Amino acid sequence: MELFKTKIAGTGKYHPERIMTNAELSETVDTSDEWIVQRTGIKERRVGSIEKEEFPSGMAERAAKIAIKNAGIEVNDIDLILFSCTLPDMMFPNSASCLQERLGITNKCGALDINAACTGWVYGLTMANSLIQTGIYKNILLCGTEMASQFNNWSDRNTCVLFGDGSGAVVLQRAQDGDSSQILDSILTSDSTKKDSLILPAGGSKRPVRQDVLDEDAQWMSMDGQVVFKNAVKTMSSHCATLLERNNMTIDDVDWFIPHQANLRIIETTGKLLKCPEEKVIINVELYANTSSASIPAALHEAVTDGRIKRGQTVLFAAFGAGLTSGATLLKF
Ligand SMILES: CC(C)(COP(=O)(O)OP(=O)(O)OC[C@H]1O[C@@H](n2cnc3c(N)ncnc32)[C@H](O)[C@@H]1OP(=O)(O)O)[C@@H](O)C(=O)NCCC(=O)NCCS
Repeated sequence: MELFKTKIAGTGKYHPERIMTNAELSETVDTSDEWIVQRTGIKERRVGSIEKEEFPSGMAERAAKIAIKNAGIEVNDIDLILFSCTLPDMMFPNSASCLQERLGITNKCGALDINAACTGWVYGLTMANSLIQTGIYKNILLCGTEMASQFNNWSDRNTCVLFGDGSGAVVLQRAQDGDSSQILDSILTSDSTKKDSLILPAGGSKRPVRQDVLDEDAQWMSMDGQVVFKNAVKTMSSHCATLLERNNMTIDDVDWFIPHQANLRIIETTGKLLKCPEEKVIINVELYANTSSASIPAALHEAVTDGRIKRGQTVLFAAFGAGLTSGATLLKF
């Protein structure tokens, strides 16, 4: 069977207007700018507004319009929408269908939400690649969009300083003959033995948000930061090493490394384990904090827009999140 190649044809991003600095956070919880910067590298984050339609489908609409324009296609050229989101607009209809309407897509293309937490966009990239490689679709819109501010417990200093809202989108397209851009390889894993280390147990069918949940103030996420930290560094570095090895490459062949933007210390430790020079690592966590599955596509868009990432260059993505999921992708941009 002939396999087609998949390329990233266009990128886009959106972050809410409202900036919340560490100093502002320290007025409401027992923390400080110094602690947050030293432990995480984060200086500020964006917080979405429902009135400004900065919920997932609204943010994704803004990011997707830029990606579609940059790909040089029309909205009705999209064959499938994949929407990675941890907390969607609503339980149903899915956010991908809401996005189809917001973009004015009238071709009735498929629309699917994916939830692999912060790794969701990398999972979506692998799914989309397979659907394009096998010739089923030609243009897939893949968004990673998160409104973490809605599940952030703003009175828990252990977690609330870490997250922010935002969206990143790409159009994945069947590459033409002779095109140097293509997705080369990817790895997806999940270690469910550690699933309780990053969890939002209420709000689903097993424990709907009713009065008992509110009485216990149990409607928020909770996290064992050190378990997540160690697992993140271990899985991201080993997945990247495996991808490089099985594609007969070394880190010297990689032009840019875009890890999930969760925490500067995780990014730096992973980079060191991979022996990746600092100047090849794309970092914007200081400005947006951890925007979950939006972080890699948004950072990609920034680096493409400012001219760092160029066509034909080799790029490595690595992500981790609740599950504990993890994944990595190697590609020629
Ligand atoms: C959360 C994280 C920054 C905490 O850093 P750490 O060095 O592990 O810190 P610890 O958990 O050991 O906490 C050290 C102390 O700081 C305190 N602390 C926690 N958050 C704080 C904050 N925002 N401000 C001030 N102090 C804080 C703790 O209460 C603890 O105090 P104690 O020693 O009196 O109990 C770190 O574990 C981490 O980044 N983990 C990964 C998180 C992540 O990326 N999650 C998203 C996954 S997609």
